[in-house]
Amino acid sequence: MMLVLDASVRKTLLVLAVFTFALFVALIFLTPPSPFPDFPSSSLHSSGQQRQEIWLVRRVMEWRPCKWWIQSKPAALPDGTNGYIRIDCYGGLNQMRRDFCDGVGVARLLNATLVLPKFEVAAYWNESSSFADVFDVVYFLEQTKGFVRVVKELPAEVASKEPVQVDCSKRKGQYDYVETVLPALLKHRYISITPAMSQRRDRYPVYAKAALCQACYSALRLTETLERKSLELLQAIPKPFLTLHLRFEPDMVAYSQCQYSYLTSSSIEAIEAARGDRQPWTGETARIWRSRGKCPLTPHETALILQSLSIPTNTNIYLAAGDGIMELEGLTSVYKNVFTKSSLLTDEDFKKMHGNTKAALDYYVSINSDSYIATYFGNMDKMVSAMRAFKGSFKTLFLSRKTFAELRSQGINGTELLEGLWKSHKDDFVKGIGSALPECFCEFKL
Ligand SMILES: *[C@@H]1O[C@H](CO)[C@@H](O)[C@H](O)[C@H]1NC(C)=O
Ligand SMILES: *[C@@H]1O[C@H](CO)[C@@H](O)[C@H](O)[C@H]1NC(C)=O
Ligand SMILES: *[C@@H]1O[C@H](CO)[C@@H](O)[C@H](O)[C@H]1NC(C)=O
Repeated sequence: MMLVLDASVRKTLLVLAVFTFALFVALIFLTPPSPFPDFPSSSLHSSGQQRQEIWLVRRVMEWRPCKWWIQSKPAALPDGTNGYIRIDCYGGLNQMRRDFCDGVGVARLLNATLVLPKFEVAAYWNESSSFADVFDVVYFLEQTKGFVRVVKELPAEVASKEPVQVDCSKRKGQYDYVETVLPALLKHRYISITPAMSQRRDRYPVYAKAALCQACYSALRLTETLERKSLELLQAIPKPFLTLHLRFEPDMVAYSQCQYSYLTSSSIEAIEAARGDRQPWTGETARIWRSRGKCPLTPHETALILQSLSIPTNTNIYLAAGDGIMELEGLTSVYKNVFTKSSLLTDEDFKKMHGNTKAALDYYVSINSDSYIATYFGNMDKMVSAMRAFKGSFKTLFLSRKTFAELRSQGINGTELLEGLWKSHKDDFVKGIGSALPECFCEFKL
């Protein structure tokens, strides 16, 4: 239908347009000065050139699951078993998963039978969710069939005793599990390990690596209950969306021993409370520490880097994080469409969730989001980027704290800073850097 506007409508539109413009101008003048004087983001658009969003840059490489585990039939399992191994896992959900994956490889290497792992949840999470509360056990058993022997119930010969704990954390570097752990396994028949060390690569047969890869990337899926809750969350997030893993939390900052020049007093208090005996570095040490990329990015710094990547400020962003993020204003003052679990899920069964199960929600959303950006390369980021690569999602990027710190320490700011950040991150993205863990994934030239 063609619209023929009569005079009065046109006049109304004109008045409206003038009014909108006036409001716009007023807003610009009335906006309080940025609380972050170091690098005004208003200089962003002054360079004039319109850059495309980072995700549209052509990549030359991507990581795909290697053929030797995804396509070939696993080598036959040995007839007997050398004994039973339980993997004891500590820390956050993704750290436990990483150790468990390594443990599956070790169990296969030793021709042992795997018992379901023990998830020893960190005390600060105050919960006790077992492996079976997070992952679908039946699915795990099915998917690992032929790769490694797994039992849900211990056989009578060992069922009555606790496993003998074998310490695998003694040495640095690589470790030979056949040399150091097999004798204990043969002697006691039932042992528990936490594989803190990686197996010596030159003595790692393909069948053991294949068991690790299969167990870690093809055999772990969330329980039905958790998956249903995660799906509910996923559906509540406006699409398309970016998941941002931002970890500017008191414990993280205290642990980093970094200092920041413009934090609110409540953040400073929270960091001090989490500090313990780790005092922040000062003077020259602090400067070197920061330029080595040891300092967590603040929400404001993160917003600046996102802008340097030409990620539009109206992007829907899901924050994969707890509610303890400090200085979030630094992000939300620039990116307005930010969502969190607790803003999207308010029902009783969500309120009852904590620790592991909440982390599982973030994990699920992260692997299913259109894009994923982490401000850090932690256990969750490693697991998520690998799973995304496994699913063929490649809009995954890790922000470089080091690049940021280096540019800033040279006094670079404004447009030049954005340009430097763009270059460095674009190069990483083009080369597929950090998009999967190398052990189970192979480089694929595009
Ligand atoms: C495991 O079994 C394979 C044959 O199936 C054998 O070659 C290998 O030496 C065994 N390893 C151990 C540690 O028993
Ligand atoms: C830990 O959990 C117990 C039992 O669920 C509860 O009574 C207690 O208040 C919790 N403590 C903290 C610090 O959350
Ligand atoms: C940016 O850097 C230049 C040169 O180092 C300096 O003169 C200028 O004041 C800086 N601007 C801001 C906003 O920090």
